Amino acid sequence: MFFAFEGINGCGKSTQVDAIYAQLWELGYQVAKAKEPSTLGDRIRDLLIEKNNISDKTRLLLFEADRAENLDKNIRPALAESKIVLCDRYTASTIAYQRYGNNLDASLIDSLNEIATDNLQPDLMFWIDTPLKVCRKRNEQRDDKSTRHIYDESFLSRVRFGYSQIAKEFPSKMIRIDGNQSVPQVSTRILSAIKSYMIVSKSRNSISDHF
Ligand code: TMP
Repeated sequence: MFFAFEGINGCGKSTQVDAIYAQLWELGYQVAKAKEPSTLGDRIRDLLIEKNNISDKTRLLLFEADRAENLDKNIRPALAESKIVLCDRYTASTIAYQRYGNNLDASLIDSLNEIATDNLQPDLMFWIDTPLKVCRKRNEQRDDKSTRHIYDESFLSRVRFGYSQIAKEFPSKMIRIDGNQSVPQVSTRILSAIKSYMIVSKSRNSISDHF
């Protein structure tokens, strides 16, 4: 199974990936973590920080190249070992950031997402919807290397709007989680959605085994 975690910078998704990973592990599941940008993407991120004048289209292609690599090297091998994969950002990030944030063409992004992933979609996406103000405060407190400084408030509110549109378009795939709660409250909500999904897909599989 494959679950993606989404949201604007500072929404708390990386914390949730770690928390859910630990809880699933304790429950006895084999779990793997993945992240975009990945290791290749970290180099891309350096490039983005060093060269802020990089074009939006080039940035899109770099994210997609990183995605293809991450899938081949990390996600597919883990899925082949029947692990539950928790991925910090995936295709919805590109729709939210490059389509809604940078106003790049929607069909170009959809085609590139499809090419990079061979249409491998997550079972569920968790959109951690944390108020912009809270995210900004968290980002200011962090001192790690990040692309966050290239985003202004209006860009991030367009990205947030992008996520809301994806959630509207794919209500059974993208689950909005209120990020303005404590870390354990957010994890409880995500874990319960994962458990429900597992129960439903298990019963679906056992029904199809009978036919
Ligand atoms: P993060 O590691 O803090 O989530 O930062 C990754 C940054 O890359 C974040 O600002 C969002 C951006 N990004 C895109 O713009 N498009 C993408 O497709 C992906 C995966 C990330």
